[in-house]
Amino acid sequence: MAFHFLVEISCSEGGNVMMLLSNRVAIITGGARGIGRGIAFKFAEEGCSTVIADVSVSEGRKTSEQIANKVRDKGHIFFQCDISDSHQVHDMVDHVIKRFGKIDILVNNAAINYMPKSITDLSEEEWDKALAINLKGAFLCCKAVVPHMKTNGYGKIINVSSLASIAPATPLACYTASKAGVLGMTLDLALDLAPFNICVNAILPGLILTDLWEPVLSKLPPGVTKEDFFAGLAKGVAPLQRMGTPEDVAGAALFLASDLSNYITGDRIIVAGGCPLKQIVIDFLSKSPTDSH
Ligand SMILES: NC(=O)c1ccc[n+]([C@@H]2O[C@H](COP(=O)([O-])OP(=O)(O)OC[C@H]3O[C@@H](n4cnc5c(N)ncnc54)[C@H](O)[C@@H]3O)[C@@H](O)[C@H]2O)c1
Repeated sequence: MAFHFLVEISCSEGGNVMMLLSNRVAIITGGARGIGRGIAFKFAEEGCSTVIADVSVSEGRKTSEQIANKVRDKGHIFFQCDISDSHQVHDMVDHVIKRFGKIDILVNNAAINYMPKSITDLSEEEWDKALAINLKGAFLCCKAVVPHMKTNGYGKIINVSSLASIAPATPLACYTASKAGVLGMTLDLALDLAPFNICVNAILPGLILTDLWEPVLSKLPPGVTKEDFFAGLAKGVAPLQRMGTPEDVAGAALFLASDLSNYITGDRIIVAGGCPLKQIVIDFLSKSPTDSH
């Protein structure tokens, strides 16, 4: 039996303002920090009860407390859960049903990443771990939550894939494969679950400023600061010339979680500041020696 740490903060019922997610209940995996944290805040601000399911107790607990303090109108809970463990996922879902009676929204967001590397340097253990969390974890959460959504006749599943799933920018086969798998599973589940009024869509973030970049930041060349790295990266790669934020992704997640998107399923939203669009001709001409023309 897995050990679970649970913190629950209940706030008094607020006024009758109708918000985009009034009376909805959402599970956000990996909601302790980064993009998941941004999504949890955005959902809570729109009247949703949030369940953060994450392996990180200190960060998960802190985020849940911050949400409750900011919003003060619903119950918000943190549940320690490793999404790659089916028993822990079942315990988490059982607890949510006992606490809230239903699950309207599932955001499969938790994932891990490594330093980019070629397939010859990628170990079998690294491959297995990435696939177990990034892809199997999303499958386990869907499998545990879907029966409750079917009973309700309503559901929104949002799978956080990556732009890497269709346009990898650095080699890391296990990450790319896991995210392409998430996208494939999104299409399959959209078809499978449409008769039950359950919509399944994906978000493909591009360069988003979060701690997921830690493995890369730890290997920056001497003299290159974190700020230099992100500024250069964003300017060189994203047409909108800035890194994205968790809030940028949360906006797309809110749309897909709300009734504004009720006739959309099996689709994807790229949140990447214009990537992978690339200005090629003008860049090429500006770099070509003038005497060659
Ligand atoms: N940041 C980016 O540039 C970027 C780009 C494309 C896609 N994404 C995707 O967005 C999602 C969120 O990424 P982020 O940048 O916020 O990363 P992050 O590392 O800041 O947050 C990931 C969260 O997942 C949790 N987590 C890790 N393993 C877990 C497990 N086994 N069970 C439960 N929780 C676990 C972590 O504790 C953490 O809170 C991921 O799916 C990632 O692949 C991020």
